[in-house]
Order: sequence, then structure tokens, then C-alpha cells
Amino acid sequence: MPKVLISDKMDPKAAAIFRERGVEVDEKPGLTKEELIAIIGDYDGLAIRSATKVTKEVLAAATNLKVVGRAGIGVDNIDIPAASAKGVVVMNTPFGNSITTAEHAIALIFALARQLPEADASTQAGKWEKNRFMGVEVTNKVLGLIGAGNIGSIVADRALGLKMKVVAYDPFLSAERAVELGIEKVTLDELLARADFITLHTPLTDQTRNILSAENIARTKPGVRIVNCARGGLIDEAALKAALDSGHVAGAALDVFVEEPAKASPLFGTANFISTPHLGASTDEAQVNVAIQVAEQISDYLLSGGITNA
Ligand code: MLT
Repeated sequence: MPKVLISDKMDPKAAAIFRERGVEVDEKPGLTKEELIAIIGDYDGLAIRSATKVTKEVLAAATNLKVVGRAGIGVDNIDIPAASAKGVVVMNTPFGNSITTAEHAIALIFALARQLPEADASTQAGKWEKNRFMGVEVTNKVLGLIGAGNIGSIVADRALGLKMKVVAYDPFLSAERAVELGIEKVTLDELLARADFITLHTPLTDQTRNILSAENIARTKPGVRIVNCARGGLIDEAALKAALDSGHVAGAALDVFVEEPAKASPLFGTANFISTPHLGASTDEAQVNVAIQVAEQISDYLLSGGITNA
């Protein structure tokens, strides 16, 4: 019987599926790196979220490991070249948390438009500062999507429902797909010049790192509001702080940071800056979806060699 380790906190449905399918499963969230290295040799499969780091050292100790499944989208906590060199298949679950992440982006757009966190803090402090919190409508505003894949396309759908105009920069977006989505495919320069709100929905790669660099932030429309629920590193955080301080950027909301957990950041305390602790995928529904999907995919691979989302 193949044996799987679930090494991060995961919805119990994952373990239930493994057992139903005849896969032995241990749930041990919160292991230290040393503890993981000490036991990983016993397992054929590893199911993780984002806390477990599947490093070269972990993989070197994983003498029986055949598959790592990430219950989520990003696989940046897995050393993919080292896994491939060992013949370990790496899978993710790209669809299970897309809606949830898109909804978080929309929530942050509204939070910026109406300064909700600041207004809440002020009201609960007994200030009743009605004149301080003048907002903007999102209706008829241009939303610039950097990335129009699984998540970006759902954000587009919701934004169109809010009567925003949606433009997208995405080298992988075909003209036909843009028409199907009801959005306009543009160059990055055009997006920067036109967008009232910018939201990022792209993985962090050599091509996308610092896509909102100091230079590109300077090209944005004055008064732009920026949301990032994708990956830290897509925005130059120092340049963003400078642009918030100067007022060129009217607001920014980050769910993701270059360093996570982000327990300190020069951005903290900046006016018109909102942050959440990488909550993009944190809903009951998304966590059930990704747990079910990762358990099904890992079981399929271990029991019959079926590969999905690798
Ligand atoms: C993902 O990659 O699935 C999301 O960023 C959520 C997460 O890492 O928890």
C-alpha cells in the first residue's frame, strides 16, 4: 500500500480520500525541517500547502518519494529542478482556489476605493471622520489586469459585472480569448498609462519579477490604485512606498510580500496602504477544493500512474 505524508494543515477531506482509495496516510503538520528529513524516506507521496519547504536536502532524504502535490497554485516552495532530477513528479491544483483569490482581489479593490480599513479603525476609535473618507466609484473605471489566466479571467468577469472597463497585459492571452472574456488586450505600457486600478495575477518568474519596477510605477496614471494577491516580488516594494508617499499612487493593497511571513515592512504604516497576510486562497470552500484535488491527483498517480496538473 503506498504511503503519503500530509505535512501542512489541510482539510480532513484529503486524508479521508487517501484512506478511501487505499493509500496509507499520516497527517503531521508543523514538522521542523530536521523532523521532515528524518521521516520523509518512509513516504511515496507528500501533500503540502505553503508552509512545508521541499528543499534539495528534503528531496535527498526522500528515498521512496514519487510525487509531491501542492494543494494550491504556486509551487515556489518546491525545488523543482531537484525534484525533476530525482524523477519526483510535482503537481499543483490550479483551479481549486481561483475564485477565492479573485474575490480577494475584488475585495481589496473596494477596500482601496473606499478606504475601508482606515475608516473602520477611525470609527471604532470614536472619531466619526465622515469628511476624511471620500472615496471613488469603480463604475466606469479602467481595471488593468497583469495576467489574464485562471484567476485574472475570473477577476475580469467580476469587474465587468461591476461595470468596470477591463484591459489586460498577458503575452499568453490570445485575441480570441480576450474577445470571449470581453476585455481589451493591451501592451504593458498602455495598461500602465490607462489603468485606474491595477491588479496582478501572474506567477513570479524571471520575466515578471519587479514588473511594477520604479520605472513602471512612474509610468502609471497618477492616482492609480494597485492590488497584488499573486506573488511578492512582482512589485518593487521600496518604489511602491515612495510612490505612495509622493501621492502618485493613491492606494495599494498587498496580500503577498517579497519576504513572507512579512512581520515588518517599510510599507507598514504608510498612508493608503492595506495589507493582508497571504489570504488569497483562505476560504473554507477553496481549502476543501484544493484538499480534495490534491488527494485525488496523488492517489491516481500512486495507484495507476495517472498524471494531472504536473
Ligand atoms: C497559491 O499558490 O495557491 C496561493 O498563493 C495560496 C497559498 O499559497 O496558500
